[in-house]
Amino acid sequence: MSLPFSQACENNKDPILDVLKRHFVSAGTVLEIAGGTGQHAVYFATHMPWLHWQSSDVPENVDSLNLRIADAKLTNLPLAIALDVTQPDWGVQQCDYVFSANSLHIMAESAVVEFFRHLQDVIAQSGILCVYGPFKYGGKFTTASNANFDLWLKSRNPLSGVRDFEMVNDLAKSAGLTLLEDNAMPANNQLLVWQRCPSITSSETH
Ligand SMILES: C[S@@+](CC[C@H](N)C(=O)[O-])C[C@H]1O[C@@H](n2cnc3c(N)ncnc32)[C@H](O)[C@@H]1O
Repeated sequence: MSLPFSQACENNKDPILDVLKRHFVSAGTVLEIAGGTGQHAVYFATHMPWLHWQSSDVPENVDSLNLRIADAKLTNLPLAIALDVTQPDWGVQQCDYVFSANSLHIMAESAVVEFFRHLQDVIAQSGILCVYGPFKYGGKFTTASNANFDLWLKSRNPLSGVRDFEMVNDLAKSAGLTLLEDNAMPANNQLLVWQRCPSITSSETH
């Protein structure tokens, strides 16, 4: 049986793992959004056995994602669930960590807004969000290759496109998330890390 495969995932899984290992440190649940081929889910669940890795993707892609997840037979990697970030109720429990790769430039900007709007309820206090992909800064692409990639994305779907870091970070702030790191990654990508601000207790306000 041939499993869905992405060469980009093979290339980026180790650099991403190095960053995730510094942030997904304690036992807890990860919600992966836009799991794609499942290569990231299987690799990260294998290398971080302290995590319960719940992958997801839009309903039409879940069966293909689950081919690889079922094949891996990992106790900390249940079958992926159907989750479109634009659905009104994500139907998930609060989780300690959220991971998503190469998704914000595929989904429409309105869906990116929904992504962050839901996260304020889905990520536990002090939880971590890691998002991998290309971004623009100050309205400028980081490389000519990312500018070409943006044109290619828009030729496939005019609603897709490389997002502005500032727009995404503003959405994150509105969701109660604080940027911890912006890691430059291979192939002109970034791995952005945010933390949900711990709630202020009454003792801290005196
Ligand atoms: C380029 S693929 C990336 C897949 C995988 N994360 C990777 O890094 O290879 C984009 C993914 O975004 C997902 N996606 C697009 N729109 C979405 C939405 N509204 N909600 C959740 N996932 C979405 C697609 O189904 C697809 O799996």
